[in-house]
Amino acid sequence: MSAADAPLRRPLLQVEGLRTGFPSRNGMLHAVDGVDFSLERGEILGLVGESGSGKSVTGFSILGLVDSPGRILGGRVLLDGVDLALLDEGARRAIRGKRIAMIFQDPMMTLNPVLRIDTQMIEAITAHDSVSTAQARDRARAALVQVGIAAPDERLLAYPHQLSGGMRQRVAIAIALVNRPDVIIADEPTTALDVTIQGQILYEMQALVRESGTALVWITHDLSVVAGLADRVCVMYAGRIVEVGPVDAVLDAPRHPYTRGLIDSVPAMNPRGRPLAQISGNAPSPVDLPPGCAFWARCTRAIERCGELPSLEAPVDEDAVSRTVRCWNPVPLPAAGTR
Ligand SMILES: Nc1ncnc2c1ncn2[C@@H]1O[C@H](COP(=O)(O)OP(=O)(O)OP(=O)(O)O)[C@@H](O)[C@H]1O
Ligand code: SF4
Ligand SMILES: [Mg+2]
Repeated sequence: MSAADAPLRRPLLQVEGLRTGFPSRNGMLHAVDGVDFSLERGEILGLVGESGSGKSVTGFSILGLVDSPGRILGGRVLLDGVDLALLDEGARRAIRGKRIAMIFQDPMMTLNPVLRIDTQMIEAITAHDSVSTAQARDRARAALVQVGIAAPDERLLAYPHQLSGGMRQRVAIAIALVNRPDVIIADEPTTALDVTIQGQILYEMQALVRESGTALVWITHDLSVVAGLADRVCVMYAGRIVEVGPVDAVLDAPRHPYTRGLIDSVPAMNPRGRPLAQISGNAPSPVDLPPGCAFWARCTRAIERCGELPSLEAPVDEDAVSRTVRCWNPVPLPAAGTR
């Protein structure tokens, strides 16, 4: 096969230059300010960053669910090469839940408190597929089993308030899985759960993604979750991605000073006995972002050039790893053998 005949290999999901803002009394609040990333089938991407960095708004923007009067100000979201903004609302609705599903931190964003679980799951299936109620019920039951719910027939007959928090979240995950979507965007769905249940759900999600080829974006502020779950990680700061790369490379040898600071502040990621460091200062206001690097005021590596906005690029001294960093003066790579 010649190169011209080769099928065009493109990522499953491409986010290009995404900008989302909320008008406020003090001007436009730039929640997401130029986010680019791509996702392959079967890949798990961790999206991390501190509170307010724009992780959830990125997820909502991909699904076209930004709260009004907020709106997408620029950029594109492509699913299999198709620009979602060019579809009409009917076609977009058909994609939501069927090809891209979202799991929220609060399962009650998905669940309707006054409907039984079977009613909700069957409705989620028949909204997209013309199958009989009996077939839909079988699929719903199978999805509950998939997320590790024992006694699924009993759970199908329950109302959300009759289930524990962990069980409700599993049901919300099952609803996201029930149409076998190509992409799942999970927005901190395990943060409110106890550590054992969190671990179980992470394990099950990872296994499901590996089996089904579904791509997963896992939004979290918890780097240790990303370390165990993701293939690649995107680090967000003040509405922008500041570092992207394979999870081991980024966590073992971060190049952006913000990523370095984040890792140094996590007890589980530091050698025992090493003092924990906190990043001093606060993130800039998203209504009034500085013209240059948004991390400048907090950065110990700042140089004069940092008054200009850096772009997301591969550091010049790094060729083996597909990592990009938004920084004029990245943290040096550790000497070989010291990582
Ligand atoms: N509906 C909204 N109206 C106005 N501003 C909003 C809205 N939703 C988010 N924002 C603002 O957008 C910015 C990004 O918020 P976002 O919720 O994406 O942060 P996050 O990274 O998900 O934080 P967290 O870790 O706390 O969930 C914040 O400044 C937030 O206040
Ligand atoms: S661009 Fe400059 S200020 Fe920003 S993180 Fe890099 S070194 Fe620090
Ligand atoms: Mg959030």
